[in-house]
Amino acid sequence: MAEKHYKYVILGGGVAAGYAAREFSKHGINPGNLAVISKEGVAPYERPALSKAYLFPEGAARLPGFHVCVGSGGERLLPEWYTEKGIDLILSTEIVKADLQSKRLTSAAGTTFKYDILIIATGSTVIRLSDFGVQGADSKNIFYLREIDDADKLIEAINTKKNGKAVIVGGGYIGLEMAAVMKINNFDVTMVYPEPWCMPRLFTPEIAAFYEGFYANKGIKIIKGTVAVGFDSDASGEVKAVKLKDGRQLDADIVIVGVGGRPLTTLFKGQVVEEKGGIKTDGFFKTSVPDVYAIGDVVTFPLKLYNEMRRVEHVDHARKSAEQAVKAIKASEEGKAIDEYDYLPYFYSRSFNLSWQFYGDNVGDTVMFGNSDPASPNPKFGSYWINEGKVVGAFLEAGSADENKAIAKVARLQPPIQDVNQLSKAGLTFASQL
Ligand code: FDA
Ligand code: NAD
Repeated sequence: MAEKHYKYVILGGGVAAGYAAREFSKHGINPGNLAVISKEGVAPYERPALSKAYLFPEGAARLPGFHVCVGSGGERLLPEWYTEKGIDLILSTEIVKADLQSKRLTSAAGTTFKYDILIIATGSTVIRLSDFGVQGADSKNIFYLREIDDADKLIEAINTKKNGKAVIVGGGYIGLEMAAVMKINNFDVTMVYPEPWCMPRLFTPEIAAFYEGFYANKGIKIIKGTVAVGFDSDASGEVKAVKLKDGRQLDADIVIVGVGGRPLTTLFKGQVVEEKGGIKTDGFFKTSVPDVYAIGDVVTFPLKLYNEMRRVEHVDHARKSAEQAVKAIKASEEGKAIDEYDYLPYFYSRSFNLSWQFYGDNVGDTVMFGNSDPASPNPKFGSYWINEGKVVGAFLEAGSADENKAIAKVARLQPPIQDVNQLSKAGLTFASQL
């Protein structure tokens, strides 16, 4: 079988891969030195669009509109960009074997790719209900959302099942964003999740109460404290109902499941040190294996600000870790040093006309401020997290660009707090005046 040799191979064709390719080109790359190998059939794109504008009934986002790096206000890397730069963009190619000793990757079609330096950017995959043996979980019209093909299949079903009933399983990022977009598509939407409030990974009960109230006002039904234990389907295998653990049954034409992600580390099991479910790296995204780097969702890296190893499944880190890894590779080639990664966690989401940002760490006590009445025409509110007398995290719904910058600054500087009541009264002014 054919063998190709590259100085650098980026394995994966998602957000981190695209930003890494751009960083290589900024440093100057010789034609034929870099390959990006992706299972997907399209050039790297801004994945967050898939659960938002890509699914709008009108004016939907479509490629090439959202190829990286438009999501951070950068240049849009069209497929021809890779050709112009002499970068081999190898699409629709799944790597099924990675041998980190001999520095070889093997594709499903049997092609071998030899590399001098490997950057692992395989991202995450979805956790499936069939992984827990949920009965009927492989019925037709039960969807997961990770890649553009998943979104295309869902759009087909949205068009076939017009104005039907959608059940959303999961109350995290996918659950909240997909419930909104299905409502916008005029579906009758019910969300089901086991926790007492949505997005418990980040939201306090008070923050969640706003989003739950807002969604309820939009006509979305929310069922909490239970899980889907089975699905009924018709003679053609299409899902018809979701059976809940509490005995209830919900009619469904489409089911969308968002019960979490899992980093794609399987190819490297036993070959590289892992920690907290991800591939362990240092602050330059170097793994335990020489000449192998890892970036994006798949890595557990030192989060310097909190002196802790963390994995982050969000787009901002995918972009920044990619840039850091390539800078580190280039610096080491030139015998130079760069600073260690010093990341401030940043997450965001958008649904309906809502838009929130969060910076920092969500540990400790919380102080809510602003107008969080879901019935208000202009809700705008936030929350600070206070740990060991310092503000360590900040959340803001409906913030302007400057206000979001201000809460980011708070999370980075971690100012001490004497009087929590005063912080609550000052609200956003506290951040703006820092
Ligand atoms: P990413 O998943 O982007 O890319 C991995 C790539 O590797 C894929 O192209 C995959 O096909 C490929 N691959 C994997 N295994 C392979 C193999 N064996 N061979 C070849 N190719 C392989 N975050 C945020 O901050 N705000 C947001 O609004 C959103 N919204 C959002 C919506 C949806 C629908 C999803 C699924 C995710 C988000 N996220 C998000 C999360 C964000 O998109 C995510 O953190 C980044 O895409 C991670 O970038 P990576 O490059 O690490 O993985
Ligand atoms: P998540 O971890 O955000 O949420 C998972 C949710 O699944 C939990 O909150 C819980 O409500 C629910 N759950 C768990 N087990 C369940 C069960 N058996 N039945 C019903 N519900 C159950 O994961 P996700 O929403 O699936 O998102 C997948 C990945 O995509 C994550 O990496 C996420 O960060 C990323 N993503 C991020 C964004 C964003 O940052 N705006 C948007 C979409 C997706």
